[in-house]
Amino acid sequence: MIATPDVSCATPYGPSAADQRRSKYGGIVGRLAGKTALITAAGQGIGRATALAYADEGATVWATDLNAETVGSLDRTPGITTRVLDVTDTAAVRTVVAEVGTPDILFNCAGFVAGGTILECSEEDWDFSFNLNVRAMFHMMQAVLPGMVEKGGGSIINMSSVASSLQGVVNRFVYSASKAAVLGMTKSVAADFIGVGIRVNAIAPATVQTPSLDDRINASPDPVQARRDFIARSLWGAWARPRRLPLLSCTLAPTNRST
Ligand SMILES: NC(=O)c1ccc[n+]([C@@H]2O[C@H](COP(=O)([O-])OP(=O)(O)OC[C@H]3O[C@@H](n4cnc5c(N)ncnc54)[C@H](O)[C@@H]3O)[C@@H](O)[C@H]2O)c1
Repeated sequence: MIATPDVSCATPYGPSAADQRRSKYGGIVGRLAGKTALITAAGQGIGRATALAYADEGATVWATDLNAETVGSLDRTPGITTRVLDVTDTAAVRTVVAEVGTPDILFNCAGFVAGGTILECSEEDWDFSFNLNVRAMFHMMQAVLPGMVEKGGGSIINMSSVASSLQGVVNRFVYSASKAAVLGMTKSVAADFIGVGIRVNAIAPATVQTPSLDDRINASPDPVQARRDFIARSLWGAWARPRRLPLLSCTLAPTNRST
């Protein structure tokens, strides 16, 4: 769903002024300078790529994840501080937000891709997906919003998916239901808080090649065919790389009202 433009604009005289301002990850140098960003599920995949891109654009990043080892490996990256956070633990969410203070940017990335149709979805499966994919975002937003209101600004980015109210995707019953809820929740909070300078957006990617996607493919009965099927259902015959997503997230992150 997200086609990242070719950002290289070399002129016959060398790199363009715009290219000179490009950061290592293709963003814009200094765009997030002075901003604090809190990211969930930053241990791997899209969350990790976003933590690196935000830091690269100058933000002070608090990267959190359930997995201490993966998120901890970001600790030596300049601009990034890591914390272990299970987003389904509401008390732990409040503790981390109290330590961070009010972030300028909240990137709610944590989510789980459950497979199967409605006939394979148990009560436990439903509760697990809605607790992680929806309820945790509700608690994260509720924890940071009062501070953002007090500061008069902020940017919240919630991770949804094309498998939601946007598109019917086979074998993604509870995942799609939960990601549709993310879109509805995002629009509601955006409508309530845009008047006080808080921007709330959702990103809805198609397939992105991340460690959990590889796990899902390798766990299928025929991984080669499963890989072909994933690629075939993409509109442009390929899937996105996690590094592409942060470019969009960085564009949504600035907290000034005019962006
Ligand atoms: N990969 C894709 O194709 C794709 C497409 C659309 C949307 N998404 C969404 O993007 C987000 C990230 O997916 P990904 O594929 O980049 O990551 P991933 O699935 O590879 O990794 C998920 C991360 O979330 C962490 N996590 C799991 N449970 C947690 C919890 N309770 N609290 C905190 N962290 C927890 C894991 O430790 C892991 O680091 C998810 O919300 C997913 O639904 C992914």
